[in-house]
Amino acid sequence: MSSPTINAVRTPFIYIRRDLPAIYIEEMKKLGAKVVVESWEWNEAEPTPKIDLTDCDVILTLGMRDDLSVLNYAPNTKWVHSFSVGIEAMIASNFQNSDVIVTNSKGCTAVPIAEHTLAMILAFSRGVQTMINNKENQFWGLIPTIDLASTTVGIIGYGQIGLAIAERCKALGMRVIGCKRNPDKQQEAKDYAEEVVGMDKLDSVLAQSDFVVLSLPSTKETQYLFNKDKLKKMKKDSYLINVGRGNTIVESDLVDVLKEGYLAGASLDVFEVEPLPTDHPFWTMDNVIVSPHIAYYSSHHMKHNMELFLTNLKNYMEEKPLLNVIDKQLGY
Ligand code: DGY
Repeated sequence: MSSPTINAVRTPFIYIRRDLPAIYIEEMKKLGAKVVVESWEWNEAEPTPKIDLTDCDVILTLGMRDDLSVLNYAPNTKWVHSFSVGIEAMIASNFQNSDVIVTNSKGCTAVPIAEHTLAMILAFSRGVQTMINNKENQFWGLIPTIDLASTTVGIIGYGQIGLAIAERCKALGMRVIGCKRNPDKQQEAKDYAEEVVGMDKLDSVLAQSDFVVLSLPSTKETQYLFNKDKLKKMKKDSYLINVGRGNTIVESDLVDVLKEGYLAGASLDVFEVEPLPTDHPFWTMDNVIVSPHIAYYSSHHMKHNMELFLTNLKNYMEEKPLLNVIDKQLGY
């Protein structure tokens, strides 16, 4: 990593709520920051800060689980960076009313999530689960397949992640339809999708798609959007892939719809309760692929996240605009 030369106006005190490789802590210190790490492990209840955070102005944490009650200990915080793209815990805590700037790691996970989605589409289209079952039974027989070039994928939630999925689906010859809250906003979206439509056209997208990919954030509008009624708007025998947030689906409705044989299958990376409880029906359903919220993960995850944070830290120190600022009203 290169040694920084910056015109710092601020000397930040950064409170970090997860373990980070020493190299990145050193880099922050080289920039002139005071850094304190108090790691909050996955399986732990939220720890109370052990040090005085009165002078802390920057917090690095995980927006998907930190509701920012820590701000009671750090009342002079100006900027919070979320290591996750999703910031649902922060949203739930009315952070809209605070002056703190929140940024997230948008963009750092788009490619791995897109590759994961492709793996799931190809697993369904080439019958990978049937191959695995047949191998266990030493059964040699033809496996039905789907020609992707004659299929349509509807990508619901068409931000950076959706776009990376669209690019790859298009390369496989699939027809892509993007569906998002503001369909006119992102010009490049049109490069890969035959159409980019608003959420008011969601039912029509579901009715046309052989694969429906959910890459939605968790907001008031998206929570439980995919109930039985919506799921039944999907083509019979189509596949649902969720790489966004678990609570965008009513899971019991999805179980019913899959059991009724209405949908051909589902690949779920995210769940309303994580880890997925051991008695959940998804674990034992043949037409469901379960992955443990890992679509985002890659060997470059830390590097990409920290490069973004360090760029933003320099911007913060120089009082320049920050990247990936969350729109507090929208919640992403
Ligand atoms: C994200 O970045 O929000 C992913 O879901 C991983 O936490």
